[in-house]
Amino acid sequence: MEEILRCEKISKNFMIKDPLGISKRKLTAINNISLSINQGVNTGIVGESGSGKTTLAKTLTLLVRPDSGLIYYRGNEITKLPDRKLRFFRNRVRIIFQNPYKSLNPRSTVERVIKEAMLTETKTSETVDDILSHVGLPPEYKDKYPHQLSGGERQRVAIARALVGNPECIIADEPTGSLDAMTEIYILTLLDELKKRFGLTYVFISHNLKIIAEFCERIMVMYRGHIVEQGSVEQILKNPLHPYTRLLWNPESEKFVRQQQKYNYGCPFLHRCIFRMEKCFHQSPELKDKENGHLVSCFLYE
Ligand SMILES: Nc1ncnc2c1ncn2[C@@H]1O[C@H](COP(=O)(O)OP(=O)(O)OP(=O)(O)O)[C@@H](O)[C@H]1O
Ligand SMILES: [Mg+2]
Repeated sequence: MEEILRCEKISKNFMIKDPLGISKRKLTAINNISLSINQGVNTGIVGESGSGKTTLAKTLTLLVRPDSGLIYYRGNEITKLPDRKLRFFRNRVRIIFQNPYKSLNPRSTVERVIKEAMLTETKTSETVDDILSHVGLPPEYKDKYPHQLSGGERQRVAIARALVGNPECIIADEPTGSLDAMTEIYILTLLDELKKRFGLTYVFISHNLKIIAEFCERIMVMYRGHIVEQGSVEQILKNPLHPYTRLLWNPESEKFVRQQQKYNYGCPFLHRCIFRMEKCFHQSPELKDKENGHLVSCFLYE
């Protein structure tokens, strides 16, 4: 299996001010994450709001540089390459941003959005009409502004922009997050068609484990900046190991767990875990292979 992207032990911190703006503290948005994205294997990243999914997507594509750790594209280390040397990488690994309301410039027509993406491209044989046809939009849409589009159409434009430059991998950050159920199905079907037509590999980010399980072959579960479990869809579906993954399958079960204060040490999931043991207060478990590529970070399995 050919590897497209790999990161080794990447972390990203942000300095955030307290509500009064007096003191600052460090927030670790992603913590020591290692993963590989292999060609043809759709990989899902799932986790609740604030778990670090978008930060991971931006760091993997070097829109944000990690504070530590290494990033490899097709075996070459690219973590500190200057932007001018990342052109090829940026054409081959594209991102669809989380919120199409924010990511499309309200003052740019659809044509301009696509043309601007083409400016940074290495080859431009396709026309704007070609690109729009790939996402099922007629040529007349070229002259429309984002506010004249429905949510689903806007997301089609965002996908069209990601197709410019002959990509091999698209990182889609909650691509259907703001859409109704029917439109969501249209967009997922479109993404699947594009995968087949262009041989794309997706990294699909969502807070919805059920959608991820339908769309992806491999799943990574994030919690507070950590990957707490990863495995094939079958492994995560039939045998979820981490207490947080089990909670994602059955969110109602948490109603009965009294949330404890957040602890500064130990396992990141400690304050919500019904299985916590003495050890969990003092040490953070490592992500370890339980069997056949099913990894989990939890002392229950050591
Ligand atoms: N530029 C930034 N400056 C300061 N803090 C940030 C910044 N970007 C993200 N964060 C913080 O990092 C953490 C992870 O944020 P991130 O956006 O990656 O989460 P997410 O999993 O994508 O959440 P959501 O599902 O809501 O999109 C959050 O606590 C967030 O407030
Ligand atoms: Mg996000």
